[in-house]
Formats: sequence, C-alpha cells, structure tokens
Amino acid sequence: MARKPIIAGNWKMNNTASEGVELVKALKPLVADAKCDVVVCVPAIDIPAVKKAVYGSKIKLGAQNVHFAEKGAYTGEISANMLKEYGVQYVIIGHSERRQYFGETDETVNKRTLAALAAGLTPIVCIGESLEEREGGLTEKVLDKQIAEGFKGIEDFSKLVIAYEPIWAIGTGKTATAAQANETIGYIRKRVKKLYPHKNAGRLRIQYGGSMNAGNAKELMAQPEIDGGLIGGASLKPNDFAAIVHFDK
Ligand code: 13P
Repeated sequence: MARKPIIAGNWKMNNTASEGVELVKALKPLVADAKCDVVVCVPAIDIPAVKKAVYGSKIKLGAQNVHFAEKGAYTGEISANMLKEYGVQYVIIGHSERRQYFGETDETVNKRTLAALAAGLTPIVCIGESLEEREGGLTEKVLDKQIAEGFKGIEDFSKLVIAYEPIWAIGTGKTATAAQANETIGYIRKRVKKLYPHKNAGRLRIQYGGSMNAGNAKELMAQPEIDGGLIGGASLKPNDFAAIVHFDK
C-alpha cells in the first residue's frame, strides 16, 4: 500500500492563540483540496482556539510534546488524554530542541511515544544528527542508537511518523540535499525494518525536516523515500506552507 504523504507545520513557540486562529483562517482555503495529510502542531495553550479554527477543514491538530504518565504530580506537564480530549491527533516527540534544551533522551522519547500511542495519538518522533556527528561520519551510528532506544516496544509502525531532522539544517536555511535526505531516510527505513520486523515497518511514514520551504519542497518530496515534511519557519506563513502542501503541483 502506498504511503500517504504528510506535511506538518511545527509552529514551535510562535503564535498566540489569536494569531494562530488568524493563520489557520488564511490557510484553510489554500489547502482545501490537499491530497496529503495536513497537520499544524501548535503551542499547547493555542489548542482550544485552533481546534475551533480548523473545524470542518482538512487541517488536523497536533501538539508539540506530551508527558508519559497518565496523570499525577508532574507540574507543568500535559498528558496524552488531555490532548486527546481536545481533538488533538498528532504529537511531536523528541524534537532536537527538546533534546538540546530540555533534557529529552532516547529513553524519555520512548516513554512518551508509547504513552501517545496508547492514547490513540499519532506520534511524530524526531531523530537526526548534529553537524559535528555528520562531519565525523557518525550519522548512521547516531541514528542506530536513536532507533534502537527510542522505538523499543512499538507494535505497529504504521501508527507513527518519524521525522528525520538533521540538526544542522534546522532554522539555518541549510537544507540537506534531496539526495542526502533520501539516502538517510532510506537508511532509517532499512534499520527500522531490520530491528523491528513484522511490526508493519513497511508502512512507516518518514518525513524530512530542516529548512524545507516552498522552493525546495517539490524536489525533496519527489524522492522515493521521503513521505512528507516537518516544517518550522515556513509553516508560519500561510502561502508558503500551502505551497509545500501542494508540492505535487
Ligand atoms: P525549519 O523549517 O525552521 O528549519 O525547522 C525545522 C523544524 O525543526 C521542524 O520541526
């Protein structure tokens, strides 16, 4: 079965709720005939307002993090059930910014991913290497560890999305070449299939993320291994994001 492309915006810590609503209002008509899955991953506090704004459209709602416990004494955290009750369908887990600034590890990524899946959310799990690691020839080794430790215990890889985001390409304007992204995503797929055979790994969708924009989306999305994009900066501009959604036009 062909893997359906998925274009997701990661707003990061941008857009108040009212700004988010305005963005979605502008975006809705532009993606009304989208053929791929379209997702916006918004700051948690924007969720109630954006839920209303996306109603009746192609745009699906996503969050940017989730805690692994069902409930309890975790001040400041948000559980999968809390997201679920607000109609959230997707959640980004293990973004490199969370790994870098908030102590996220492969172990916590794994716990959050399992909790999200148990609640019926679709995790978008981010992996990727730093510039130092790529230049040191360590890309595959780094990905191997993230895959082996981050995806332990997953029973069905059709129920999650992986975002391959080379850290050196995030917010830098420095995109991986289409060939580089395709090759590395191909490697990730091969590795997942090898480590987790019989877990529906053939249906796993893998996105590219890192300075993807209206100008390079077409070439990136034409690569056979690339099933979608996780978009930062360009997802804040409705016309740019819509152009990425329409990569096939
Ligand atoms: P940019 O598209 O701004 O490089 O961000 C990519 C990203 O981190 C998406 O999660």
